Order: sequence, then structure tokens, then C-alpha cells
Amino acid sequence: MQRPLIIALDFPNLLDTKGFLKEFAGEKLFVKVGMELFYQEGPSVIRFLKEQGHSIFLDLKLHDIPNTVYSAMKRLAGLGVDLVNVHAAGGYEMMVAAREGLEAGTAMGQTRPKCIAVTQLTSTTEEVMRRELLIERNLLDVVVEYATLTKNSGLDGVVCSSLEVPVINSKVGNKFMTVTPGIRQPGDDVFDQARVVTPEKARELGSTAIVVGRSITRANNPLHTYNQMKASWEGVRV
Ligand code: C5P
Repeated sequence: MQRPLIIALDFPNLLDTKGFLKEFAGEKLFVKVGMELFYQEGPSVIRFLKEQGHSIFLDLKLHDIPNTVYSAMKRLAGLGVDLVNVHAAGGYEMMVAAREGLEAGTAMGQTRPKCIAVTQLTSTTEEVMRRELLIERNLLDVVVEYATLTKNSGLDGVVCSSLEVPVINSKVGNKFMTVTPGIRQPGDDVFDQARVVTPEKARELGSTAIVVGRSITRANNPLHTYNQMKASWEGVRV
């Protein structure tokens, strides 16, 4: 999957996850497992999803001392997931350790999971960044600086807003992955996302992958909505 639409499986347990996926029988999906589902079910949920043939983004956003992140990434690579992430705020050495841990944990003949970094959480406003994190800079500058640090540490990309993709690509190069949540179709409930774009707009802005949660998981007909959003993301007219 070159430019995947990643479905965020934000469910509390494996039972609900299986219930949701029933409708997608036979489809090879790219799914995202976050903290809630992973902390409830552990590696068994990953084994289940792999058995179904799905690609997996394990979204645990690691942020710790380099040695701990190295060891944790070694374990995550052993699960055979496709994509993992860290907080860029952990710094250069931590991100290098993440990559080395993934390399060490990847079995011979397998591809190491790609690793991307969160620059600033989309819930962090510039005001919070200045007042609480004591970063006296413009938010977009910080995103670009952290993306550059991520690239220099040998990681594969960042999680960011689609609206930040053009400036990241212009500063860091377009070989760098930009995985973008905050995706909605026109008329969808935005829920708690502050700035949203359509799949089509995300493609125009140059995102390499989009992450879609509630627009699909809470749709009346998730499979139909998935196909619609995927077509719009891929630029296919339906
Ligand atoms: O339901 P919705 O489409 O808003 O879900 C987006 C998914 O992407 C959620 O799993 C959320 O945790 C994740 N995410 C995000 N913003 C980030 C990083 C991850 O919305 N900056």
C-alpha cells in the first residue's frame, strides 16, 4: 500500500474491534491500533489483525530515555507491525535509539517497521506551547524544526496536519512520510478536531497517508463510507 487510508480502530477491546471488522471481511486494510486497545488487549490484538492480513500502525507515541525506547522498539518490531511512532520532543538521541531498536528487533529477511514522530500534538495550541512548554516560537516553525530533527535522526516521517504538509515537504523534502489525521468528508461531525480537511484536499496538499477514525467507525454504513473516502483520497471518481 503506497499511500494508504489508515482506519483508526479506536475501540475499547478486541470484541468491539472484531464486530466492526466483520463487515470488511476479505478486505486488506491498513489499521491503526492506539493506546486504549493495545493496553487492554496487548500483543494478541496485533496477532489477530495480522492473521486477517491487515497492515498495522501501532500508535503508542513512545517518549522516554534512549535506552528504554531502544528496548521497547525492539519488542514492537518483533510484533511485525508496519508503522510505529515516538514524540520528537524526546530528542535526537532518543529517535536514533528508536530506529536502532527497530532494526535490532526485525527478523532476518523482514522489513523494519517505519517510524514517524509526533511534532506537536494537534491538541497543543501555540498559546499552550508558549505558556506551559516554554517554547517561545511560532507553532509552524516548531513543527518544521522538529520534522527536520526527525529526518536527521534517520526516522521516516511525521504525524501532522495536512495543512502543514506543503511547508514540511518544502523544508524536509517530499520523500519524508506525512501521516495526517483530522480528515472529514463535507458535512461530517468534526468532533474534537480543530482543523479538518477532506481526503481529496489531503491528497492535493501532498499527505502520504491519511488516518480516519470516527467518520468511518461511527458511520451508518462503515464499509460504504470507507470505499467513498478511499476513492476520494485516491482521486477516483465514483
Ligand atoms: O476520529 P478521528 O478521525 O478524529 O480520529 C483520528 C485518530 O488520529 C485518532 O486515533 C487520534 O488519536 C489520532 N491522532 C490525531 N491527531 C494527532 C495524532 C493522532 O487525531 N495529532
